[in-house]
Amino acid sequence: MTTVTTVTVRVPAKVNLQLAVGPLRDDGFHDLANVFHAVSLFDEVVAEPADDLTLRVEGDSIDGVPTGEDNLAVRAARLLAERLGVPARAALTIRKSIPVAGGMAGGSADAAAALVACARLWGAETDLHPLAARLGSDVPFALLGGTAVGTGRGEVLTPVTVSGRFHWVFALADGGLSTPAVYAECDRLRELRGERPGPPQASPGLLAALAAGDAEALGAELANDLEPAALSLRPSLRDTLEAGRALGALGALVSGSGPTCAFLADSADRAESLAAALTEAGVARSVVTAHGPVPGATVL
Ligand code: C5P
Repeated sequence: MTTVTTVTVRVPAKVNLQLAVGPLRDDGFHDLANVFHAVSLFDEVVAEPADDLTLRVEGDSIDGVPTGEDNLAVRAARLLAERLGVPARAALTIRKSIPVAGGMAGGSADAAAALVACARLWGAETDLHPLAARLGSDVPFALLGGTAVGTGRGEVLTPVTVSGRFHWVFALADGGLSTPAVYAECDRLRELRGERPGPPQASPGLLAALAAGDAEALGAELANDLEPAALSLRPSLRDTLEAGRALGALGALVSGSGPTCAFLADSADRAESLAAALTEAGVARSVVTAHGPVPGATVL
């Protein structure tokens, strides 16, 4: 029998290509049609043998990441241990590159990676999806990766066919936005405007653009129902989006609940030049490029 000593799991960030938000449900969540797309910005979660459960967080911009029991990766390890009936023993290290509270599901990604890493460390074969769904609406997608439509509160996943690779630029903002606050602002704005959302549905045009690998068509289809709420809470994002559009992005939107803004380019080279121009324009804390789709949480 081999003893597993160290497990390293790489897990991607996501951008929502479409986020259609239905009415507020009785359980406090919203029904969604959420087109998730995993992109090549990665966190790593390392799990090593230990006598109890510990967490270290490493990275250049880790302000605001919880380092105790409220970190979603710690909760993931505890939930898995409870499910398996084993003691939760692991030294976890999160190496963070995904923006914190940025609307790119970094915390959810770490939780998914912790599930995969601890399952491997503890030699467990178990379906992680139900545990992921209990931890958060975006956690199951971080296990799956690729491109997928999430329905329900985002946890019921249907993979989507994509041709080729899409090239992205992400403008990271100073400070995060709270996801519950952005959903609440979305409800408030809708109430104010007398809007009554119908059942959310994935856009056939968007799915066709993905299947065809047509970046121009995809750019025109990008849509996020949370964007007005994110802009209301962080009006400066308007300038960021506008700058990207003026600089020739095929499409621009707030990623999830924000404040990260995502821009689609038609090649890796165009993405690099758009990133340089956005940096020059001074409309973001920092600017990074990435491509998608990429696989979900993977043991290295
Ligand atoms: O599932 P998760 O913990 O990521 O959700 C964080 C918060 O985002 C929820 O407490 C809720 O306020 C909001 N949310 C929602 N509808 C969803 C997903 C999240 O209202 N489908």
